[in-house]
Amino acid sequence: MTAVLQNDRFLRALLRQPVDQTPMWLMRQAGRYLPEYCATRKQAGSFLQLCQNPALATEVTLQPLERYALDAAILFSDILTVPDAMGLGLYFAEGEGPRFERPLRDEAAIRQLHAPDPEQELRYVMDAVREIRKALQGRVPLIGFSGSPFTLACYMVEGRGSSDGFPVTKTMLHDRPDLFHHILQVTTTAVTAYLNAQIAAGAQAVQLFDTWGGTLTKAAYQEFSLHYMQQIVSGLTREAEGRKVPVIVFTKGGGQWLEMIADTGCDAVGLDWTTDLGDARRRVGDRVALQGNLDPSTLFAQPAAIEREVMRLLDSYGQGSGHVFNLGHGISQFTRPEHVTALVQAVQQHSRAYHRA
Ligand code: CP3
Repeated sequence: MTAVLQNDRFLRALLRQPVDQTPMWLMRQAGRYLPEYCATRKQAGSFLQLCQNPALATEVTLQPLERYALDAAILFSDILTVPDAMGLGLYFAEGEGPRFERPLRDEAAIRQLHAPDPEQELRYVMDAVREIRKALQGRVPLIGFSGSPFTLACYMVEGRGSSDGFPVTKTMLHDRPDLFHHILQVTTTAVTAYLNAQIAAGAQAVQLFDTWGGTLTKAAYQEFSLHYMQQIVSGLTREAEGRKVPVIVFTKGGGQWLEMIADTGCDAVGLDWTTDLGDARRRVGDRVALQGNLDPSTLFAQPAAIEREVMRLLDSYGQGSGHVFNLGHGISQFTRPEHVTALVQAVQQHSRAYHRA
């Protein structure tokens, strides 16, 4: 028997149903800014070993909930487990971020690419979802996630992160759009199956992380990123355990294209901090909920400044449901945990006034 959900603010806000206060969670809420995370990661050996160990992944997923009154848990994993399961050989060079042993560079390798079976090659992720749901005992909902096909393809072709705009990937996009589309199509099949398997295993909402879609032109964004995210949204299981399973699409740098993103059929659009929350609400109207969008660097400032910024954001969104408070991107590893306490308290304290009917 699955436990009854005790706090459904997050799921309700995503569906724009009334709530008593604005729900919140933080992208990368389990991570290196928490000393207890660093201790568990050390025990696991490495970040990847931590992801692949369902018991330890469960432990770190719950760590931020022990400290803070957050309204959702997010599966502890990484977006790059999917290309790893496609045979690309993921590893993390110490202090240098993710790398692939076999990046996609030649046509033969690209033509051989296949979508993994989530309950086989990604079994450890599904086991983690099941174990986290048990451990949560209905305290808050569990978010599942995946990278968008375009964002995954950036790492798959480049073989690593990039500070200068993924030059190898962009070259393939322009010179061999047929090959690049093939990668995106196989990845779309993989991501759809992967998210549906997470939902079957117990994920109660899912988010697509399109970290690099915002580096494209509008035309290229539509053709190489949005088109595939729309296919995924259409292919997802949208109800489980008698409840809707909301879908959040987060394109970093996607502020110019909110209406287009809302048209994918998602329930909520994630915003980075460069878009004004109030303007965004006026643009999308009652089509979707909005998630975001505190600049993560605000958390380096003193609690009084954090509180002011929270008040400004809540006021910018205004009265009523449809807002999930979050950062505009992942929390920095250099954030002081006490500053997160101040953030969570400020949202709790000041958001209630925006939900009195
Ligand atoms: O939000 C959460 O708490 C869930 C866990 C999560 C992680 N990565 C854990 C992680 C999620 C949702 C991600 C998504 C992810 N991973 C994205 C999309 C979101 C974004 O941040 O733009 C991307 C691009 C990746 C790929 C990735 N993984 C990079 C570029 C890095 C290195 C960057 C860094 O911060 O060092 C990772 C590693 C990673 N993923 C860490 C964590 C907690 C740090 C690993 C460590 O402990 O050393």
